[in-house]
Amino acid sequence: MTAVTASAAEARAAADADAAIPIQRRKAGLRAQVAQWRREGLSVGVVPTMGALHEGHLSLVRAALAGCDRVIVTLFVNPKQFNDPKDLENYPRTERADAEKLAPLGAHVLYVPEPEEIYPDGFATTVSVEGVSGGLCGDGRPGHFDGVCTVVSKLLLQTAADRAYFGEKDYQQLQVVTRLVRDLDIPVEIVPCATVREADGLALSSRNVRLTEGERAAAPALNAAMRHAVEEMRAGAPVAGALAEARRRIVAAGFPSVEYLELRAADGLAPMTALDRPARLLAAAPLGSVRLIDNIAADPA
Ligand code: PAF
Repeated sequence: MTAVTASAAEARAAADADAAIPIQRRKAGLRAQVAQWRREGLSVGVVPTMGALHEGHLSLVRAALAGCDRVIVTLFVNPKQFNDPKDLENYPRTERADAEKLAPLGAHVLYVPEPEEIYPDGFATTVSVEGVSGGLCGDGRPGHFDGVCTVVSKLLLQTAADRAYFGEKDYQQLQVVTRLVRDLDIPVEIVPCATVREADGLALSSRNVRLTEGERAAAPALNAAMRHAVEEMRAGAPVAGALAEARRRIVAAGFPSVEYLELRAADGLAPMTALDRPARLLAAAPLGSVRLIDNIAADPA
């Protein structure tokens, strides 16, 4: 047993030495690296991910490289934020390809913590943000944001980065994390980055690879219906009517249902019934085995 573990560890160490970019799997090693950068007076950015990197993640890495001297990308498929075991099981795991995508960009370290570096035996702490975690994805995915907040707290504390880059694609997550670092005085600046989309409007997501051809063809209807609703509201249509019409369009395009479609305040996510201040239209809808989410800005005309 020990011999197998030792040779598996040796094989991985050899693979890591060969990886496209330096890989750290232990927080001690990561901290030593960050301490060295600090001694050299370099600023540090972090891009937290669960891997299966696509152009959306790469845009965060580019933003981090533009804003910081050194960039850590973290890769950890966090079991605590999956409320559906099947989703966790099917989540794509593509570490080698991820490292290869990061190398040409110039990211400095890929941190792939061993599970016990995040959740050691006896781990008993949950970080929970009230208010902004409620409703929207907080209703459809019970426990999800507690899982996100717990792992993000750990990743921010382990990396001790100056700036952390999060996509607006997960707008509620961005709001939750912003609240989290403010409330806990975690010394990091949260930098929001615009959603990256396919040419037809579909927001990039690691889960899109699970869409069948037919589902992929229907998927952009979500964003199209949302954009139409925002145009209508900006032109003076009542919010409730514009949302009802958008739901109708989404279902007509082949989505079996709409989990939520709501107009919320851009800052703090309070529910809104009139477009009278900067807002965000947010939606989630299932399509095949995938749950698509999207959001767009909705500013008064
Ligand atoms: O957005 C994600 O990929 C995850 O929620 C995050 C922030 C990496 C935490 O696991």
